[in-house]
Amino acid sequence: MKAAVFHGPHQDLTIEEVDIAEPIDKEVLVRTVASGVCHSDLHFVDGLYPLRPPAVLGHEAAGIVEAVGPNVTYVRPGDHVIGCLSVFCGQCDQCLTGHTNLCSNRPDRDKSGPPRLSQNGKPLIQFASIGGYAEQMLLHENGIVKIDDDMPFDSAALIGCGVTTGLGAVLNTAKIEPGSTVAVFGAGGVGLAAIQGARIAGARMIIAVDVNEFKLGTAMELGATHIVDASSRDPVEALRDMTGGGVDYTFEAIGLKKAAEQCFDALRPGGTATIIGMIPVGEKVELDGHAFLTEKKIQGSSMGSNRFRVDMPRYIDFYRQGRLKLDEMITRKGRLPDVNEAFRAMRAREVSRTVLMFD
Ligand SMILES: NC(=O)c1ccc[n+]([C@@H]2O[C@H](COP(=O)([O-])OP(=O)(O)OC[C@H]3O[C@@H](n4cnc5c(N)ncnc54)[C@H](O)[C@@H]3O)[C@@H](O)[C@H]2O)c1
Ligand SMILES: [Zn+2]
Ligand SMILES: [Zn+2]
Repeated sequence: MKAAVFHGPHQDLTIEEVDIAEPIDKEVLVRTVASGVCHSDLHFVDGLYPLRPPAVLGHEAAGIVEAVGPNVTYVRPGDHVIGCLSVFCGQCDQCLTGHTNLCSNRPDRDKSGPPRLSQNGKPLIQFASIGGYAEQMLLHENGIVKIDDDMPFDSAALIGCGVTTGLGAVLNTAKIEPGSTVAVFGAGGVGLAAIQGARIAGARMIIAVDVNEFKLGTAMELGATHIVDASSRDPVEALRDMTGGGVDYTFEAIGLKKAAEQCFDALRPGGTATIIGMIPVGEKVELDGHAFLTEKKIQGSSMGSNRFRVDMPRYIDFYRQGRLKLDEMITRKGRLPDVNEAFRAMRAREVSRTVLMFD
């Protein structure tokens, strides 16, 4: 099968022939139909996070089950599925207390056997246990959710990461109350999903903060009630002015230390900042110590604190009801070789999301 292979940071991915193993045990072989391009992949390409090459990136994908291992009970060939990197064991403390996204014993292939992905017998890393920039994916059955056959694959793919991350940060991690004021820093794929989560949850004010006109325009179309252009205004000052003293809930969906600090500073007393973005390894976030006296809180959010087998079908219902706009988040579609162009467009802030199509 063809896959886009990562050979190291600051280099284009190259389209190459890669061998994918037969499904064993609880593994499922999925034919990729659509694969979204999320900024997390780009952080590795940009060298902000370490990854040992060669690897197949991509982690926001949907497709059709082609074959299943002997111990798979959840799906059959022909089923439509979304992959999720939050593979769960179902037995550890985290799983048993409802935090499957934090599973401490993620099921994986036995490292002593043949790898899932290889070239001439040499292993390739399957990024996030998915490797979605490839014609096929070999996934654990606890890393997929079945979806209805009539759900379009391009929109389904977005649910695989960006949508679940943004919506889940609002609904599961922060659990905002109706009537809250919300600010979302970064109106890319994840931020637009957080904005929609805030709209669905009944936020009173939803303020999108970005540095790009196109992004801010899209944010207004998808549910923001106000915008702040951080390229021309100090966002903390702007948010305090607009809300009469500070925001109830802020969300960082960029991956910047400075924006995480601004999220905390812009809170009203008692408010909560939720950091979604991948802040580069080794960078420290600095907060005013005295601010804790006003009961401000800051927390992380991993993949929207998902229980994805429950959450993703709910998000599909929101989509069908017109409450979650996904088609509007897909600015461009491409084919697998367009992955590098999709990264360029993401850096240049030209797209909300690019989705690579395989059919
Ligand atoms: N926590 C998780 O589980 C999780 C999951 C998925 C993605 N992420 C991370 O979330 C972040 C966002 O991902 P994405 O795919 O939406 O990225 P994206 O590139 O689509 O969006 C980022 C947005 O931030 C804006 N931006 C850049 N600098 C800014 C600034 N100084 N002030 C305001 N806005 C600014 C850009 O214009 C863009 O709209 C990334 O760091 C990604 O790795 C985290
Ligand atoms: Zn992602
Ligand atoms: Zn577990």
